[in-house]
Parts: sequence; C-alpha cells; structure tokens
Amino acid sequence: MPDIPDYAAVNRSYWDDMAHEWVEMGERAWQSEPTWGMFSVPDAGMDLVPADMTGMRAIELGCGTGYISGWMAKRGADVVGIDNSAKQLETARRLADEHNVSIEFVHGIAENLPYPDESFDYAVSEYGAAIWSDPYVWLPEAHRVLKSGSSLVFLTNSALAVMCSPLDGSVADRTLHRPYFDMHRIDWTEVEVDPGGIDFHLTMTDWFALFKKTGFAVEDFYELRAPEPSDNVRFFVSDSWAYDFPAEQVWRVVKK
Ligand SMILES: C[S@@+](CC[C@H](N)C(=O)[O-])C[C@H]1O[C@@H](n2cnc3c(N)ncnc32)[C@H](O)[C@@H]1O
Repeated sequence: MPDIPDYAAVNRSYWDDMAHEWVEMGERAWQSEPTWGMFSVPDAGMDLVPADMTGMRAIELGCGTGYISGWMAKRGADVVGIDNSAKQLETARRLADEHNVSIEFVHGIAENLPYPDESFDYAVSEYGAAIWSDPYVWLPEAHRVLKSGSSLVFLTNSALAVMCSPLDGSVADRTLHRPYFDMHRIDWTEVEVDPGGIDFHLTMTDWFALFKKTGFAVEDFYELRAPEPSDNVRFFVSDSWAYDFPAEQVWRVVKK
C-alpha cells in the first residue's frame, strides 16, 4: 500500500485501538433499518439510501463495522467497504458473514481508492472519510470513482458544533470557542478530555466552493436534530444541545 498522509497514520492507530468499543454498536446497527448519525434519525423521509439497489455498485468510504455496507447489500447492491483500520474491518467481516451477505471489505484509505474512474453508482460515508479525511483530497477521489449522475451521501458534524466544542476536548456548550473562518484540520490527540484523532471540518462557503470545483451539484442537505432534550451525552454533545442546535449534517451531492 502506498504511503498514507500523516493524519491517516495517526487515525489508523486511534481506530485500531478503539475498534473493540464499536463492536456492540455495530452489531445493533447491522440489525436495524437505515438511520443516520448519533440520534439514529430514520432514513425514511430523507430516502438517502435507495430502496432498491439491485444492479448498483456501491462504495462506503470509511465503513467501520460495515453496517451501511450491510444495508446496501441487503438492498441488492454489489458493495465495497473501505476502511483505514484493519481492526474495524475484522468486525465488519464477521458481521457480514453472520448476516449472510457478501461484501468486499478493503483495508485502505478514501484518499486513494484502488478502483478505476467511474466504477461506482453510489458512494456513502457516515463519520468515515466524511470527517476523518481531508475533504480537499477524499471528495475529488470519490468524484473520480463515481459514474456521472451518481450520488455521494455523507454525514459529518456541523460547523456550529465544532465552534462550540471547547479546546480541551470537553462536551460542546453554548459558547463559541474557535473561529468559523479558516476551519479545516483539528487535532484532538493532545486534548485533556478524551483525546482522539485528527479530523476535518469546513465552513459552508468552503463546502459549496469545493462541490463546485470538484463537479458535484447539491441535491439534498439535512441538519439532524436530537429527538428530545436531555442531559444524555453522545460523544461530544448533550441531547439538549443537539435539540436546540444542529450537531450533524447530511449532504447528498450528485456528480455532474
Ligand atoms: C465512526 S467509524 C464510521 C463508520 C460508521 N458509519 C460509524 O459511524 O460507526 C469511522 C471509521 O473511519 C475510518 N477512517 C478514518 N480515516 C479514514 C480514511 N482516511 N479512509 C478510510 N477510512 C477511514 C476509521 O478507521 C473508522 O473505522
């Protein structure tokens, strides 16, 4: 495998070390109908995963435990799930076997996909490449492997959630802790509370500029909401915060 970017090497160790903590959640998600994000917002209504994927070739970029790949395979697609963590892929492969679906799981990075141009009819990423890879690299790469007219659906955090996240890594609050403009790479490896990996976030202007430059048209955009307010904390936000403000956003962009 070719060299990987510095941040992808950091994130590979982070996810290999963390993989055991994602097994249970992966097992649950494999059994569910398609939902999105921390609040398991049902896909029904947004319809971002096609109901019938028969004859479609699909790729999940940063598939983790592979449940979205599983949903697509069960809907008839021929699926590739690529992930930077060999440990996450161990879980994905086991669950695919248990669910009797055939999926090609590949150890690699979304920035450098081992497929020819225009190989896929659909691409998806939920907190995979969509947050852990540099969008200026993975988005053009996703565009390259998609056929013209095909969708890329991805979920990531809102810029507001990033701005409201304290610099020490603690849970988001109602204060702006960092600037909006020039938002890009954030290194969580040295923070005091719950150190993490390195992730990437863009301003809305920068997302739109990147879509236009890459050759994607925006078809759908959703800001996901917690179903009800509570003190329950999911990763980095409370349900009360995410009831009042969008913590997550989902895009569906189409290759022009
Ligand atoms: C949170 S999981 C995403 C899977 C699933 N949707 C979920 O939310 O659990 C994040 C995954 O992204 C993978 N990842 C991080 N950087 C990546 C990259 N550059 N290319 C491919 N996968 C990457 C990690 O190894 C990890 O398994």
